[in-house]
Amino acid sequence: MIKQKELVAFPTETVYGLGADAFCVAAVEKIFKAKGRPAENPLLVHVSSIDQAEQLVSYLPEDARRLMEEFWPGPLSLVLPALGRVPDIVRGGKLGVGLRMPDHPVALRLIEQAGPLAAPSANRFGRPSPVTADHVRTDLHGQIAAVLDAGTTGVGVESTLIDLQNDYKLLRLGGISLEAIQKVLGREIEALDGGPAAQFVTDLEVILAEDIEQMTFIIEECIGRKKKTVLVNNNYQKGSNKSYTGLSREYQLDLISGGAGLYSMIRECESNNVDVMVFAPLPSDLTGIAASFADRIHRAVSARPGR
Ligand code: TXA
Ligand code: MG
Repeated sequence: MIKQKELVAFPTETVYGLGADAFCVAAVEKIFKAKGRPAENPLLVHVSSIDQAEQLVSYLPEDARRLMEEFWPGPLSLVLPALGRVPDIVRGGKLGVGLRMPDHPVALRLIEQAGPLAAPSANRFGRPSPVTADHVRTDLHGQIAAVLDAGTTGVGVESTLIDLQNDYKLLRLGGISLEAIQKVLGREIEALDGGPAAQFVTDLEVILAEDIEQMTFIIEECIGRKKKTVLVNNNYQKGSNKSYTGLSREYQLDLISGGAGLYSMIRECESNNVDVMVFAPLPSDLTGIAASFADRIHRAVSARPGR
């Protein structure tokens, strides 16, 4: 199907991807159309080996090789200087190409058979990334040739993305922690100012409480205003000792082991016509995967219009 210029959604360890032959412009165009994604937003090229990655870049710096050897296959994507054979449309017109080797047997098998795949997350543009095949079908029904269903993804947050072209920059925090990367490189990496745009936007009202007193106040106010309200606790705020009469639901988000919980619960709340998701306070000094989930929660809060 890939060779027939079709789109195939496939599982990775992070979220589902929407794959097309990375060298076929007509197929890659379909990705942008299916997602409703702006053309200047580049796509990661998914490979099944370091050798394959080498054939896409004009130069593979020693640091890039070290990171690949340490973390591939795994949720770390690297932006490197592209060879001309990587189509412009894949790079969003930029000089660099983003490379990723997913740690999932189905994804690796597919790439081994079909060659490098240009693939964004398999959601409509602006929606939370899909962590189940059902999420993919909901967003892209009728627009894709197939979804390879391998159940719920394990990591549940997108890959970490760093630009290694000039000054190293963290473009997106994700499945591999910044600390682990810095340890391998033996140096600090700066975060890009403000980072990339919102990862997703939901119509729900998303509120992150600063402390427990504020959380209680917000929940009681929302319930008082007859809003359908859910509370999302985390490992650091295990259940509020208080029970709130009128709360629609209480979720427990595992920030430490990660997993598909965050994106699943947002989609579930949307389907259930929840009005407000109140997130329990997050510590400010989180590390590891917890920092990546906190990043997505902060983005969901600030992506809301008027906030
Ligand atoms: O975990 C993941 O990375 C998932 C799975 C499917 O692999 N993919 C994913 O792709 O999240 P996407 O397209 O939803 O997000 C990739 C991000 C986008 O923000 C894009 O702008 C950025 O990576 N990106 C891709 N190629 C780039 C490049 N050449 N230069 C700068 N940023 C790039
Ligand atoms: Mg995406």
